[in-house]
Amino acid sequence: MTNATLEAIFARRSNRAYTAQKVDDETVAVLAKAALAAPSGSNSQPVNVIVVQQVPLILELEKAVIDYFAKTGNNEVLERLRNRKNKVFYDASTVFFLAVKNHAGTDVGIMSENLAIAATSLGLANILLGLPGVVFNDPDTAPYWKGKLGFPEGYEYGLAVAVGYAADEGKPHEIDLAKISYIK
Ligand SMILES: Cc1cc2nc3c(=O)[nH]c(=O)nc-3n(C[C@H](O)[C@H](O)[C@H](O)COP(=O)(O)O)c2cc1C
Repeated sequence: MTNATLEAIFARRSNRAYTAQKVDDETVAVLAKAALAAPSGSNSQPVNVIVVQQVPLILELEKAVIDYFAKTGNNEVLERLRNRKNKVFYDASTVFFLAVKNHAGTDVGIMSENLAIAATSLGLANILLGLPGVVFNDPDTAPYWKGKLGFPEGYEYGLAVAVGYAADEGKPHEIDLAKISYIK
């Protein structure tokens, strides 16, 4: 059994290298709308979508994230970042930041998957990014970064979704069917 939606669900994977090609405005607008079509608890719609396409700003944020882990001496993450050529956004030139209020993390997660599946369905590479959240949570840097991205008052970093054109190769992860059980 298959259809276009199932194909996109099974084709999605995390892309960790992007070309410099920008995602066009019409596509960005459709993706942002797809994000906002996600369900939320009591239809509270606690997530704002902030689309950043300024590459210097994305690179400034990337450096701030690496600086955070250097400052806190988190060698495990620093090592992982080194293995990824110190890339946090993997050269993606379009990043959807999901700013959330009321700690509605579940709603953020659901919205991010809407974005990932919608992007995949349009042939676009994508990846969900939790790591950048550190600089939005660190009291030393949060005011600057929340201000820079225009987070409304009371909103926190939920997740980011980078979208663009793939410059890597890979396959979707193996699906472990043993994790399914049935009570009939
Ligand atoms: C909540 C969440 C946060 C994530 N944050 C990051 C991240 O900051 N950096 C990264 O490279 N991958 C991140 N990922 C991607 C996961 O590593 C990836 O989904 C996982 O390895 C499975 O691979 P797949 O997405 O290709 O199926 C995140 C995924 C989720 C769901």
